[in-house]
Amino acid sequence: MPALVLLGAQWGDEGKGKATDLLGGSVDYVVRYQGGNNAGHTVVVGDQKYALHLLPSGILSPGCTPVIGNGVVVDPAVLLSELSGLADRGVDTSKLLISGNAHLITPYHTTLDKVSERFLGKRKIGTTGRGIGPAYADKINRVGIRVQDLFDESILRQKVEAALDYKNQVLAKLYNRRAIVVDQVVEELLGYADRLGGYVADTTLVLNNAIDQGQVVLFEGGQGTLLDVDHGTYPFVTSSNPTAGGACTGTGVGPTKISRVIGILKAYTTRVGAGPFPTELLDEDGEKLRTIGGERGVTTGRDRRCGWFDAVIARYATRVNGLTDFFLTKLDVLTGWERIPVCVAYEIDGKRVEELPYSQTDFHHAKPVYETLPGWSEDITQAKTFDQLPKNAQKYVQALEEMSGAPISAIGVGPGRDETIQINSFL
Ligand code: GDP
Ligand code: IMO
Ligand code: MG
Repeated sequence: MPALVLLGAQWGDEGKGKATDLLGGSVDYVVRYQGGNNAGHTVVVGDQKYALHLLPSGILSPGCTPVIGNGVVVDPAVLLSELSGLADRGVDTSKLLISGNAHLITPYHTTLDKVSERFLGKRKIGTTGRGIGPAYADKINRVGIRVQDLFDESILRQKVEAALDYKNQVLAKLYNRRAIVVDQVVEELLGYADRLGGYVADTTLVLNNAIDQGQVVLFEGGQGTLLDVDHGTYPFVTSSNPTAGGACTGTGVGPTKISRVIGILKAYTTRVGAGPFPTELLDEDGEKLRTIGGERGVTTGRDRRCGWFDAVIARYATRVNGLTDFFLTKLDVLTGWERIPVCVAYEIDGKRVEELPYSQTDFHHAKPVYETLPGWSEDITQAKTFDQLPKNAQKYVQALEEMSGAPISAIGVGPGRDETIQINSFL
């Protein structure tokens, strides 16, 4: 079992942090492969709650080496403050490795993210404002700054100049903002070099060597399948590939090394930011899911939009990621509903559709077709085995499994590490 991927099967916030942390004790490396500090992963260990943004959730497991892969965009100020916040709480952060090829988020990316959202007005994406899109745009446009550039002042200056030449025109002429001064950016970035230098490594080499030696590597996705820039609900997506293929490009580990792909799947659906969401509930059931599920963003504090489980999306996640397993989370949140609707298909222009439509126009018109399952009222947070779940909760899980196309190998019944029913081992 050399390498496994753990990723979000919906629109993010499925509980990836908890699932990764749970596995962290049994794996050698946990690697972030895309995204940046737009992610917000909550991990609850005993009575301690941690909110991680850029660091892989494996950082909380003492035997595990956390890695930030080349596919991640790194805001150095955020990284350093996250590291010192954890160190203050007694977490050992010394093993962290950062790819020298990862791109940096600089203050001008954050500025551009915010002004371009404002410029879009009603058509805005509802980004996290963390500079993610502009940093990836620069990477693809070949004017990005990489972690390794921090250690060569002359190259760094040339690259910042090249990037700002164009951006300052845009900022001044299009957005009516003050130009950004090259020297200030270079000085700020150089200030991070000393503190980050010790963490930078050839992570591709480290990870491939580890896999060759039989060590276990876990790739932890940020965001989720429907936020993928290629496979998600474009343009209402993030600017990277959270889907399974991203684990290869974002780390330099080939697909033949990956043996398992685990989709984290919430027992209902949530979404933050703009974009289509067929099962969204704008009524009191939506409010109830939000309140009981604590559905408020870890990164921006925004209320999450809530809705019933959508099996069309789960099937799509199975297909585009080649999922081998699901980890179903937050089943406990559904306790107390007499009946629980589940979306099994869509109706689009009067026709029943079983698969996610590839056309954005069709998806915007998709109306959920619901099947309603009987609920349960017993507290399930203490359940340790599938048999200990009430019969109707068992039936709900079995129905979701049949509809979603991959086995449900674990079930979350609470936020804590041990509030998990493990059905099949992931390792
Ligand atoms: P991530 O971004 O995928 O890591 O998910 P978030 O941390 O943003 O949101 C998931 C929230 O649900 C966090 O507050 C977790 O502590 C919590 N959580 C995870 N699994 C469960 C579960 O099985 N039951 C309950 N009640 N909460 C859970
Ligand atoms: P985790 O890892 C939920 C959403 C934003 C916005 C869109 C684009 O905690 O699951 P961006 O700042 O990435 O350019 O914003 O993506 N988004 C998330 N939604 N969970 C996340 O991360 C998200 N990261 C980005 O709300 O709609
Ligand atoms: Mg989150």
